[in-house]
Amino acid sequence: MEQLLNQIKELKEKIITNVENDAEAFRIKYLGTKGFVKAIMGEMKNVATENKKEAGQRLNEFKLFVEEKYEQLKLSSGNNSPLTTHHSQDLTLPADDLPLGSRHPISLVKNKIISIFQRLGFAVAEGPEVEDDFHNFTALNLPENHPARDMQDTFYIAQNPDWLLRTHTSSVQVREMQKAGMKNGQGKLPIRIICPGRVYRNETISARAHCFFHQVEGLYIAENVSFADLKQTLYFFVQEMFGKDVKVRFRPSYFPFTEPSAEMDISCLICGGEGCSVCKKTGWVEILGCGMVHPNVLDNCGIDSNKYNGFAFGMGIERIAMLKYQIKDLRLFSENDVRFLKQFTGAV
Ligand code: DAH
Repeated sequence: MEQLLNQIKELKEKIITNVENDAEAFRIKYLGTKGFVKAIMGEMKNVATENKKEAGQRLNEFKLFVEEKYEQLKLSSGNNSPLTTHHSQDLTLPADDLPLGSRHPISLVKNKIISIFQRLGFAVAEGPEVEDDFHNFTALNLPENHPARDMQDTFYIAQNPDWLLRTHTSSVQVREMQKAGMKNGQGKLPIRIICPGRVYRNETISARAHCFFHQVEGLYIAENVSFADLKQTLYFFVQEMFGKDVKVRFRPSYFPFTEPSAEMDISCLICGGEGCSVCKKTGWVEILGCGMVHPNVLDNCGIDSNKYNGFAFGMGIERIAMLKYQIKDLRLFSENDVRFLKQFTGAV
């Protein structure tokens, strides 16, 4: 008995002077299955029967003492290692930033194009991406077997040879003219619309070509519209988009749906017209096709070509965005690499 009490006393002193502040190490050493408390409890069997009651009480007191010490250690060691326990969290720290997304550069440029033309009175019109042959080709003065159909490598829909993925947003101008034509022009003419949207072509993907991209089509139909109206409209657009210093030139071109047709170039923004790899040393970059709507197209859509005429234009949004942001590879727009996308934070 004497010996047991001495052992308890020694252990208590050891615990009181304990410098161990790792609660878990303390628990294993004293309260674990091979710890001191368990071992000393085992001494009970050597205690004489008449002393068992008192020895039991002392041992229980000792056990409670060790357990209390362990609880204290748990609390204080928590304070010392702030990253491992709940007690340590500093609730006054500011919260982590939530990762906010940003608009895609194609959307930014598209919105900018829309806002420029809206100021000139153009409304936004949209149409389906799965089109029929009539709206994508025939109505636009491209009858079956017309060689210019080959200019646009078309994806056809397997179930129906008449269906395809639109190759340009010009199909939307057909739909809008049909709507106006049906009403015989009443209340629907003049038409002044832009049609932004996605288009598809069966092209091999590279830095300069993709199987889908985005266009904005423009259409103005009224009485006595002239090529000068077209030029002035596009000139205004270019200045708003790229700044007052940019120069513009029109080159004669061919599109079945316009006559006369032109392509519009702007002076190269990269080299300022001196000649570089982007403008292929010419100082000019092509940005859109345009022209006066062909009378056949008006007639195909039910609009009287003797009374009305108009202009149309179509541009690739990717092309504009590449010039605006000096992006050299078209694939970046569809790969969704966050490192690329997060650079575009505000409006254009
Ligand atoms: N649809 C043409 C293309 O995708 C672009 C275009 C050219 C549209 C001339 C027009 C236009 O409305 O007048 O290449």
